[in-house]
Amino acid sequence: MPVFLVILAAGQGTRMNSDLPKVLHKVAGVPLLHHAMQAGAALSPGKVVVVAGHGAEAVIRAARDFDPDCEVVVQAEQLGTAHAVGQARAALAGLTGDCVVLYGDTPFIRPETLEAMLAARSRHAVVVLGFEARDPGRYGRLVAQGEALDRIVEFKDATPAERDLTLCNSGVVCADAATLFDLIDAVGTQNAAGEYYLTDIVAIARSRGLSAGVVICPEAETLGVNTRQQLAEAEAAFQTRARAEALENGVTMTAPETVFFALDTVVGRDAILGPNVIFGPGVTIESGAEIKAFCHLEGCHVSRGADVGPFARLRPGAELAEDVHVGNFVEIKNAILDEGVKVGHLTYLGDADVGERTNIGAGTVTCNYDGVMKHRTVIGKRAFIGSDTMLVAPVRVGDDAMTGSGSVITEDVPAEAIALGRAKQVVKPGLATVFFDRLRAIKAQKAKG
Ligand code: UD1
Ligand code: CA
Repeated sequence: MPVFLVILAAGQGTRMNSDLPKVLHKVAGVPLLHHAMQAGAALSPGKVVVVAGHGAEAVIRAARDFDPDCEVVVQAEQLGTAHAVGQARAALAGLTGDCVVLYGDTPFIRPETLEAMLAARSRHAVVVLGFEARDPGRYGRLVAQGEALDRIVEFKDATPAERDLTLCNSGVVCADAATLFDLIDAVGTQNAAGEYYLTDIVAIARSRGLSAGVVICPEAETLGVNTRQQLAEAEAAFQTRARAEALENGVTMTAPETVFFALDTVVGRDAILGPNVIFGPGVTIESGAEIKAFCHLEGCHVSRGADVGPFARLRPGAELAEDVHVGNFVEIKNAILDEGVKVGHLTYLGDADVGERTNIGAGTVTCNYDGVMKHRTVIGKRAFIGSDTMLVAPVRVGDDAMTGSGSVITEDVPAEAIALGRAKQVVKPGLATVFFDRLRAIKAQKAKG
């Protein structure tokens, strides 16, 4: 049976105090929305429907960024969670299967938990994800006997006795799609908030003789982001978990508390990460590679045996083959470095191909931008680029070729050639002494007044 996802992401998130829609605030380098979509993606859903509202255009872009096939519907007015799910009706019309409702602002639900909910569907028409709250605060309360769920009461509508309940509603709900929309049809707005509560579907199901059940998960999974404080807490929780996972997977980290991962960071076994390494999205580090202190990596691939840093920056499209060495103060963007390439110091390589075993001298720059367009630099195998070479792209340097230090290379260099693009040195014997004497005399004159 297929599974469908409905992800609620229409809210403004007033308490974030932000112009950005809440679900676009980032944790682990990616929007909150992506975390929810990733958790749901583990169910291999037949269809994903994102309900956007506030900042819909940006939310649509972010949703498509994660999953180009997802459908986005717009809830123009936020009339409540049941109304929000109702917006997905047309997108799921005629489809048979279970529907899981997730919140875009709740990033840490684990796929295993969603699987457990789907499994509980064999016993209940409606399955709700609950948790034991240390501080139940304003969460909806679950009125349940064991696994059997009677109803959900929202904090605003709860009696003092109901407010004493500690079993709370995470917001995640699962039901057969047709049943879900039938139940939503019956939801009204007679409540303290005057909203269409999704939570009402439980009591409505029960009144129709359908059974409802609760699946319980650890509270950490249900952490919702409503404030900047909670956003920071979510980031910390993510990093704590990601560091522990990396260590468990056989990654060496000298100061794990200073390393920051993105949602999709992949680091292989026996890789070594120094202190203060920051991963943006899209990074793969293969087994046995080493990233030294204070590197920033994003959208790049570092192969086995390569070493990077300290203080290096790998930007999107940086591809380092096996045994590449990238040293301090080197920036690499959209460049492919073949096996054994060495880029030791103070260099910018952008829009470049560098052949195997080539050595790039200190201070080399690929001048890839002419102010309007970007151009590529292609360097062959076993070449030697002298220190402080400016490679003015588009330009090619052939296999086994050399450039002299300080050269500005504007024309292609054939294989095995040496290219010198700098002023010829002039030497004047004894002139330094003459010059120094003259300067000292001027200084003495000035001191006398
Ligand atoms: C909801 C639940 C509550 C639960 C809590 C868990 C209801 C009525 N209450 O309360 O039982 O304990 O979540 O965090 O469901 N949204 C829309 N459109 C709307 C309204 C909301 O897309 O019209 C989205 C929001 O952007 C958010 C999510 O749905 O991502 C939850 O809405 P929110 O208003 O935060 O619900 P709570 O009051 O927190
Ligand atoms: Ca909320």
